[in-house]
Amino acid sequence: MALAILYVHLVAAMFWVGEMLVLALIVTPVAARLGDPAKRAALYQMIGRQSRPWMLGALGLLILTGAGNLWAMGIGWAQLTSTAFYVTPFGRVLAWKLAFVALIVAVTLVHDVAMRRLGSRADAAALTPEDRLRYRTLGSWVGRLNLLLGLIVVYLGLRLVFGG
Ligand code: HEM
Repeated sequence: MALAILYVHLVAAMFWVGEMLVLALIVTPVAARLGDPAKRAALYQMIGRQSRPWMLGALGLLILTGAGNLWAMGIGWAQLTSTAFYVTPFGRVLAWKLAFVALIVAVTLVHDVAMRRLGSRADAAALTPEDRLRYRTLGSWVGRLNLLLGLIVVYLGLRLVFGG
């Protein structure tokens, strides 16, 4: 059971970080070559709409299987709510990891709001070209920040498994 939970946790992490890497390293350079800003915006919107439920699903699955990992390791609510637990090497790494995951959830919400404002017809019509550029810039930098945070969380996850 513990192995099955960790396996699902790992695959969800691979998908979640992988999607952001594909967006940054493959989609963005290809979109830049499209030239026409309207075509570029349409491509991002299509990819955003298609990937959003999968990315939110993967993040939800990570939090669920993360809690499952703790359960499988016999780490219960009593430990998670005791300060003594967070003085231990495992507890300290888990505290950092949970802090970064909370930041990722907050950043994902900001990104989502920005992309929704850009994507919804009603709002889009009211947005000036400057607004649109500001939302697109916010969206891309927030996306990159989430990739960096995701890579840090993966590293902290490995520290939980292998110690050190
Ligand atoms: C963005 C979210 C997350 C990512 C990308 C992530 C990623 C990872 C990775 C890559 C590992 C190592 C897996 C392996 O070596 O097989 C791991 C392990 C672990 N993760 Fe996460 N994780 C996330 C969220 C969480 C959350 C929210 C929790 C707790 C509620 C959590 C708890 C754990 C635990 C306890 C382990 C160690 C499992 C073991 O040693 O058996 N993770 N995580």
